[in-house]
Amino acid sequence: MAPMFSTRLAFADVPNALSKAKAKRLSANLPLLDMSDANPASAGFGWSVAELGSFIRKEGLQRQEPDPRGLAATRAAIADYYSARGVRVSADRLFLSASTSEGYSWLFKLLCNPGDEVLVPEPAYPLLEVLAALEGVTLRPYKLTQLAGEWVIDPGQLKVGGRTKAIVCINPSNPTGAFVGRRDRDLLRNFALKHSLGIICDEVFLDYPAEGTVSPGTWVDETQVALYVLSGLSKVAVAPQLKAGWIVVAGPANHAAESCRRLEHIADAFLSVSTAAQLALPDLIRRAEPLRASLRARVAQNEAALKAWVVASGHPCSVLPRPAGWMGILALPTGVSEERLTFNALDEGIWAHPGYFYGMPATTGYLILSLLLDPAQFSEGLKGLDRALRRS
Ligand SMILES: Cc1ncc(COP(=O)(O)O)c(C=O)c1O
Repeated sequence: MAPMFSTRLAFADVPNALSKAKAKRLSANLPLLDMSDANPASAGFGWSVAELGSFIRKEGLQRQEPDPRGLAATRAAIADYYSARGVRVSADRLFLSASTSEGYSWLFKLLCNPGDEVLVPEPAYPLLEVLAALEGVTLRPYKLTQLAGEWVIDPGQLKVGGRTKAIVCINPSNPTGAFVGRRDRDLLRNFALKHSLGIICDEVFLDYPAEGTVSPGTWVDETQVALYVLSGLSKVAVAPQLKAGWIVVAGPANHAAESCRRLEHIADAFLSVSTAAQLALPDLIRRAEPLRASLRARVAQNEAALKAWVVASGHPCSVLPRPAGWMGILALPTGVSEERLTFNALDEGIWAHPGYFYGMPATTGYLILSLLLDPAQFSEGLKGLDRALRRS
């Protein structure tokens, strides 16, 4: 008999009808414009090979420094990143990981036993389900609601079960771009203290506020409740290929020290960040702002094009406010099913994500679009969406 597989991968057993239709189109070599593509490199953003090469301090390459937290100079550069944002972070409270996603998996290992539960916001980006399943952890969503155009926590939605260990928040969120503001931080802090939960705060998109948005800033300065902030080079320095992220351990000193002691064992088991990436990180992080600014400008340009298209097309759609981030959310006309539209868009050679991929409220249909695309391609994509909407 062949060996049995773990049920952790149960989520991978049933490809949905949309993914199948997309794969069919690709295998038939039909053109497909991917309007969900949020990889900066596909949109022409990134560092040159010469720049990357010059950032890797070659003299450090010969040996692996066995500090499970990561090289001291690398952590000092991350601490500087936070000082530039007005917050003091001790390099001793920092752990390098290969990515924010890996940071999540380490925190799930730190805080949860298999079968335990983590509260996650909804809508949110779908990778959380996969990361949790791989750790044997169950997710319990708490819905965010729209209040005067802002996504906030509905306190009635915050409920624990017998095995809830942690609560995730995303500051600012993907795809909604909503920050975790003061009101929601107070709510989360009180709730976490009451139920002895750790808070995991994902801040990968912190540096991408839309123009005119007042950002509440990072939450790394939390002192009352056990809080772990996640971020990484993939968004902060537009360098996903370098594979480096980090965890900042915040909260009460005693608990933070114990968290660090335990995280050190987890990090030590993997030592997953390459020395090359660690050596490059300080330069990348110090020099990233112009690149981030060009991404923010591109996102604003495509967002303006999307809004103009909505008006010109006459479709009764609207574009949701975007406080931050790289994604545009198109609210569909009443009665248009997001799934039908996504299938029709596929027929037109356009791939975009329906709102349910992110747990958007089912009362309205939504399409989630990457605003990073080359503007000419984005406008081609909108023409295809226009045709698809007319048929939907
Ligand atoms: C909110 C959010 N957090 C984390 C990640 C993953 O980041 P990383 O590339 O560092 O794993 C993503 C990826 O898009 C994301 O949208």
